[in-house]
Amino acid sequence: MDANSDNNLSAFVFGYTGGVGRCIVNALAVEPRFKKVTLFGRRTVDLEEKDKKSTAASADFTKFTQDVVDFDKLTEDSEYFAEKLKGFDVGIYALGVNPLKTDEETFQRTTRGWLLAIAKLARDGGCRHFHRMSGALVNENSWWKFGRFGGETDALLGKISYPRISIYKPATILTEFNSGGMVGPRGVSVMRLLDRFRWWSVEGETVGQFLVQNCFTKPKDANNSVEVFTNAEINRWGKLQKK
Ligand SMILES: NC(=O)c1ccc[n+]([C@@H]2O[C@H](COP(=O)([O-])OP(=O)(O)OC[C@H]3O[C@@H](n4cnc5c(N)ncnc54)[C@H](OP(=O)(O)O)[C@@H]3O)[C@@H](O)[C@H]2O)c1
Repeated sequence: MDANSDNNLSAFVFGYTGGVGRCIVNALAVEPRFKKVTLFGRRTVDLEEKDKKSTAASADFTKFTQDVVDFDKLTEDSEYFAEKLKGFDVGIYALGVNPLKTDEETFQRTTRGWLLAIAKLARDGGCRHFHRMSGALVNENSWWKFGRFGGETDALLGKISYPRISIYKPATILTEFNSGGMVGPRGVSVMRLLDRFRWWSVEGETVGQFLVQNCFTKPKDANNSVEVFTNAEINRWGKLQKK
């Protein structure tokens, strides 16, 4: 795996229209070592939002292609998705649904079935580094059934043979994109106010930048292809960047 030294990377992102996904897109936009990025979703968005001035002046949005795909065709043996997922260096999965706002079958399909299918198809297509946006409450031993389900999903992902898999476990993500993402605008405002030391939250911008810069950083453990990053680790990194 030599992605760390690669100056000509390609990537794909699922979930790019979401609160976290938009932060990842912005971080990719200002990273010149990413030359070509395909954004897979069920709708397109105005990535630049020039009117809102939410993006850095150095951002390059010409490298992005938004591809509206048919998620009904997403299975592990899908020829349609196998073709779409060919030839990427880096794969990013930030697609998700709030388990409290959807039925269990949809939650399971989108957060496990699709994730594993995409990871396998992309790996077969040549992808070397797969990133998965998990969460702080996700844990195989959790008392919370959705947390446990997510933890088991992380473990299944880790069994797919990849040169490198990075799993991120942020707590509440603070972003204005997509109306505050999964926690909504009120949740974001409350956390910004109550959690000043970021014990239970993290700026979405920091998460996006951390994930993108992790593509150019040595793996956490040379003997383990799967690495996990906690909310505290992401915040610590964010603080160091500001010094
Ligand atoms: N927000 C947080 O505080 C937080 C904290 C920790 C972990 N996470 C994790 O981060 C991930 C993203 O969260 P978020 O806050 O960014 O969520 P979000 O704003 O609700 O975005 C969810 C993304 O998933 C896509 N999606 C959902 N259902 C879909 C479907 N049926 N078909 C196609 N696309 C679908 C959405 O597309 P559309 O825009 O088309 O709906 C959007 O791109 C989740 O896995 C979540 O568990 C979030």
